[in-house]
Amino acid sequence: MIIQDNEKRLFTLQTRSTTYQIKADQNGVLLHTYYGPKLSGGDLSRLIRFADRGFSPNPNEAGNDRTYSLDTLPQEYSGSGAGDFRLPSLELELSDGSYVADLRYIDAKLQSGKYTLEAMPAFFGSAEDADTLIITLEDAAAHVRVELLYGVFEAYDLITRAARIVNCGDTPVRLHRAASLCLDFPSADLDFITFDGGHVKERGLNRTRLRPGVQSVGSIRGISSHQHNPFVMLCEPGADEEHGTCYGAALLYSGNFEAAVERCQFEDARLTMGIHPFHFCWTLEPGQTFTTPEAALLCSPSGFGEMSRQFHRAIRAHLLRDVWQDRRKPILVNSWEAFYFDYDHDRLLRFAREAAALGMELFVLDDGWFGHRNDDCSSLGDWWVNKEKLPGGLGALSKEINALGMEFGLWIEPEMVSEDSCLYQAHPDWVLNPAGRPYTRGRCQLVLDYTREEVREYIFQALQKLLDNANISYLKWDMNRALTQVWSVALPSGRQGEVYHRYVLGVYALLERVRQANPHTLIEGCSGGGGRFDMGMLYYTPQIWCSDNTDAIDRLSIQYGTSFAYPPATMGAHVSAVPNEQTGRSVPLETRGTVALSGTFGYEMDLGTLSEEEKTLVVRQIQAYKESYELIQTGDYYRLTPPSPDGAPTAWLHVSSDRRSALLSVVSGQVHAGPPFRRVKLRGLDPALRYRLTGDDTPWPGDVLMQAGYPLPMLGEYQSLRLWLKAE
Ligand code: GLA
Repeated sequence: MIIQDNEKRLFTLQTRSTTYQIKADQNGVLLHTYYGPKLSGGDLSRLIRFADRGFSPNPNEAGNDRTYSLDTLPQEYSGSGAGDFRLPSLELELSDGSYVADLRYIDAKLQSGKYTLEAMPAFFGSAEDADTLIITLEDAAAHVRVELLYGVFEAYDLITRAARIVNCGDTPVRLHRAASLCLDFPSADLDFITFDGGHVKERGLNRTRLRPGVQSVGSIRGISSHQHNPFVMLCEPGADEEHGTCYGAALLYSGNFEAAVERCQFEDARLTMGIHPFHFCWTLEPGQTFTTPEAALLCSPSGFGEMSRQFHRAIRAHLLRDVWQDRRKPILVNSWEAFYFDYDHDRLLRFAREAAALGMELFVLDDGWFGHRNDDCSSLGDWWVNKEKLPGGLGALSKEINALGMEFGLWIEPEMVSEDSCLYQAHPDWVLNPAGRPYTRGRCQLVLDYTREEVREYIFQALQKLLDNANISYLKWDMNRALTQVWSVALPSGRQGEVYHRYVLGVYALLERVRQANPHTLIEGCSGGGGRFDMGMLYYTPQIWCSDNTDAIDRLSIQYGTSFAYPPATMGAHVSAVPNEQTGRSVPLETRGTVALSGTFGYEMDLGTLSEEEKTLVVRQIQAYKESYELIQTGDYYRLTPPSPDGAPTAWLHVSSDRRSALLSVVSGQVHAGPPFRRVKLRGLDPALRYRLTGDDTPWPGDVLMQAGYPLPMLGEYQSLRLWLKAE
């Protein structure tokens, strides 16, 4: 609900458990008065104190009042060069060469339903689900207006934000920074939590107390990146899964981003999030508008767990689209870790028969099926079948797979080109690279210039031909290198600062076109595993390959970190062979299943090497997936214990929304002789209900399981447990 008090120019955004308030003051400065646990309302600007602070200057409207400074006021969208020296939200370069951005309130309007963003991912919602507030600000001297967009999803405590920057003058304006969100906190006594790592070690949780100055994470790789996720948190120092106020902020964006927090001189803090200013410069001609990506904010007054569950619910209901929103995803088998590039038709078919016999439902042909690709140095861009490997083509292969009772899926990497390809030979200027500059290669490949319509058109036609000629119900959309030499022949020299962002818009445009032309095709996102695991991609690809690391023990941390913002059912998770190719570790098949079953389940190994005993276990796992999928897809997720280097078991719980059934998963780490007796305290159950646990005839009261805990059996190294709880 949005409460608008026009007289006081006061806007109160009320959600189920939180309040967010904005006020335009007597000078038209848009103040941020409060964000946190729900309050009854009223004008919270009385929380702001004024004092004469040395070296904090005063805007013209303040006259001789030296207590009024943009440098100390909590701002809703900070300017730059006009007296607020903290993190700016907006940086403009005007035609006279000045760099000032100084915004004042013009008006505000409410709309029912959620605003939409053209050509960019955004949460969606009808009048029943969401409301919109649009506040217009203006820098009168620059003739620039800023529309701040707020979407309020009351039931989910979700507040989305975006900004539209409009050049209302008659000379061009250059935009050097346009944040999606700016959030001021009255106290900097906060912890900053980020999700960091690299290829094969994505989204590890890091938590530190805010120190004076700016601390930030971001990406200048052209993708949201393996290294830092565009999701960050701020919380009270004592906050944990169940306690304390915490804030989560996500950017729905798959390119360069920056999330920065500043602990300021008076112990206040500011968070900004948006497109990374590195090499960003966007020219707004008179009358033109620039729209920022959307940011999503969620505050939980009761710890991280509830914040995550609210994000999960909101994403499931208002970000994932189309037929895949609620449908059970097929159990897939992927050829990559089974054969890499080394296969032919007969080998694939043998593999498919084995998979079908075990009950797998979707056969995914990974890399190596096109052009003359036998390693990763050729053929990207030549999206036609390699007839030496597959003489009958994809049409015939997909029919044979369908005849086995499985759907057929295909790997593609449409944003890339190999120099050893017909596409590159025909169009060497279609890559991102300044003329005359030697290439920087990544995995031997170059990046196509997706800012250009004709490049996207060519790729669309090539992909559509594949989709028209074979029965392909799934695409794995991969992207395997970072962007370098970012320069497009299609733009003049003064506009090269737009290329990074235009590239992302190009990817979104093509994804949307492919999706709309093939509404029943499930697209899984991938970027060398989880290099583009963000809410922007989820809008187009409702599941994303979580990591190229399939080691079940490493995956515990990767899936744990990912779960803070993203629902388990969006995480591609596969059982692979041992010893694991990334770590050399051998984890029992049962445990590999326990970990993969908590995501979007599949297998990625040579099934021909399985013993009869292992095959029986695979059949049981497939059955287990069918039994638990709905709970994992629609239920609530509780992180019970974090993955721990000292070997203590990692435990998590899926609970149905009526709290009558739950699924407990536990994986033990390294074990040393003489281990302690351990109990794990469950959460989210109904304390008054009694639950029957798998293999235990005596029911357990909910309050005992939650307050005293469930006594774990002695698990050996890397062993696991998967127990159903059913209310009597
Ligand atoms: C990337 C993906 C893998 C696989 C290979 C194929 O690394 O993350 O899953 O598809 O490419 O080359």
